Amino acid sequence: MSLIISTEKYLCELINNLGYQVDSVKLEKSKLPEFGQYQINVAMMLAKKYGENPRSVAEKIVAALDDRFTNVNIQGPGFINVTLNNSVLLDYLNAGIANFDIFVDKPEKARTVVLDYGGANIAKELHVGHLRCNIGEAIRRLLNVFGDKTISDVHWGDWGTPIGLVIREIKEMYPDLVYFDPDYKGEYPSDSPVTNEELGVIYPRASKRKKEDEKYAEEAKAFTDQFQRGVPGIKALWRHIVDTSKPDCEAVYDFLNCKFDLSYGESDADPYAEDTIKFLSDKGLTEMSDGILIMHVGEETDNKEMPPLLLKKSNGSILYDTTDLATIKQRMEDFNPDAIWYFVDERQSLHFEQTFRGCYKSGLTPETTDLKFYGFGTINGPDGKPFKTRDGGVMSLKGLIKLVYDHIEPKIKDSITGEERVEIAKKLTVATLKYSDLLPYRKTDYIFDVDKFTSFEGKTGVYAVYTATRLKSLLSKIDHASDKMLSVPNQDVLDILIKLTELPKCLTSAYNEVTTNYICEFIYDLCSLYNKFYANNNIGNEEDEDTKSTYIALSKLVYNTLSNLLNILGIEEVDKM
Ligand code: ARG
Repeated sequence: MSLIISTEKYLCELINNLGYQVDSVKLEKSKLPEFGQYQINVAMMLAKKYGENPRSVAEKIVAALDDRFTNVNIQGPGFINVTLNNSVLLDYLNAGIANFDIFVDKPEKARTVVLDYGGANIAKELHVGHLRCNIGEAIRRLLNVFGDKTISDVHWGDWGTPIGLVIREIKEMYPDLVYFDPDYKGEYPSDSPVTNEELGVIYPRASKRKKEDEKYAEEAKAFTDQFQRGVPGIKALWRHIVDTSKPDCEAVYDFLNCKFDLSYGESDADPYAEDTIKFLSDKGLTEMSDGILIMHVGEETDNKEMPPLLLKKSNGSILYDTTDLATIKQRMEDFNPDAIWYFVDERQSLHFEQTFRGCYKSGLTPETTDLKFYGFGTINGPDGKPFKTRDGGVMSLKGLIKLVYDHIEPKIKDSITGEERVEIAKKLTVATLKYSDLLPYRKTDYIFDVDKFTSFEGKTGVYAVYTATRLKSLLSKIDHASDKMLSVPNQDVLDILIKLTELPKCLTSAYNEVTTNYICEFIYDLCSLYNKFYANNNIGNEEDEDTKSTYIALSKLVYNTLSNLLNILGIEEVDKM
């Protein structure tokens, strides 16, 4: 249990033993540190409740406190100021050197949570927005630290119109391919007729033509219907496109340290679609409207428009709403999870609201299953508009990665060369991309400022990794084993210790609010405090043995804590840079 929480529990018990009934007591960080580190502000409330003088209530509390506090004093009407005894701080934090868990206030019951993030669309290149898969990945790691079981699923967009469009364009390029011959009875070729590089130009071309040519668009849709219905040639071509495109997206997710337990796509939910629709229809919840089977999810209390779920077109093909409902059915059957959480662009919030309503209303999921949409904001360019390339085109995620790499690589020491240099530059690129993506509150749009984000100073991934690297190298050079802080020699040390006592609260906030910004802020504060301590104190040459031991143990504590926090963000350290 964290020190602050255990101290609050102690206070709560103590006050109850004095005959005052309280459910909880807060140990608040003091705004006036000259009076003490923390304030206890219950006396006024208790005095009112029990009709006593606040100052005398405060005095009674103070008289009962044990020696875990020093410098106890009462200010004003009854504000109690206390400072934690150094030995209490040290005992607690010494245990944190080898055990990060002391900072994690785990809930009593662990959950099983399915996490849906990534969501790349097959046959389309990943764009800047896909960088935000980092959020789902960091939350996965955070939940694991808190003891929850997670199942991460990339949920490929492999069942919709983009592939139909690509097929239409391939037909334009190679009309004689056997896939398009309805009378063809033989085996289909095992090699794809197009490469991934070709897909990179085919999709944009097809997407442009669709906008200009209605007939073309119709034909593309017809191809979507055909692979969904399993028309052999078109389905075989669909498979080639999926198999060609997927490894390229996977490589980018891999580069970003995103680990998916499941590599399912919308297509994997297709076998569940009929049953899902039947389930809803059997409950009398569906109806036909303009040739489409729909389900109303609006409620009288709605103060905004709530469109119905679109389930099935007259030609039998299914839609985005259907695949998500069917996927939920599949996930319930496979894992019966406590929660299914989605990390998707904020602009899809309505779709998920409709979908979740459909689930609860029909009983596809019980009320106790926590379906949540955790939307994220957009990544913008310096002009505040969606990020573009120099010539105004769509910025691909690979393009963004290269942009960062080209800024970072020249900043690495000249003495690091060859393959090692490339590997370090790659890790720093990922650190940069992740930290800047995880620093803002999840829902906030942010401007991608490559100069700022690749700076060695300020709130950046490289600053954090740089600090970890410096610590690692320091610890590797010191031949003085110390796993225990013995005293608090100066204010620089105390500042770090106090900061570390705040880590449990930071982690709990990130965990409860499902956002990583707290962790990024904490990392920055911890690095700044450590670097200040490092600049002011000469660890290697410290003459007092006890102080030296304390400095070394403190450095280990900071290093291990920082490593754990970076790992939650999915950021890897380097040995030098
Ligand atoms: N492929 C979708 C898109 O690009 C995102 C998928 C999000 N996840 C989901 N279960 N719908 O818009």
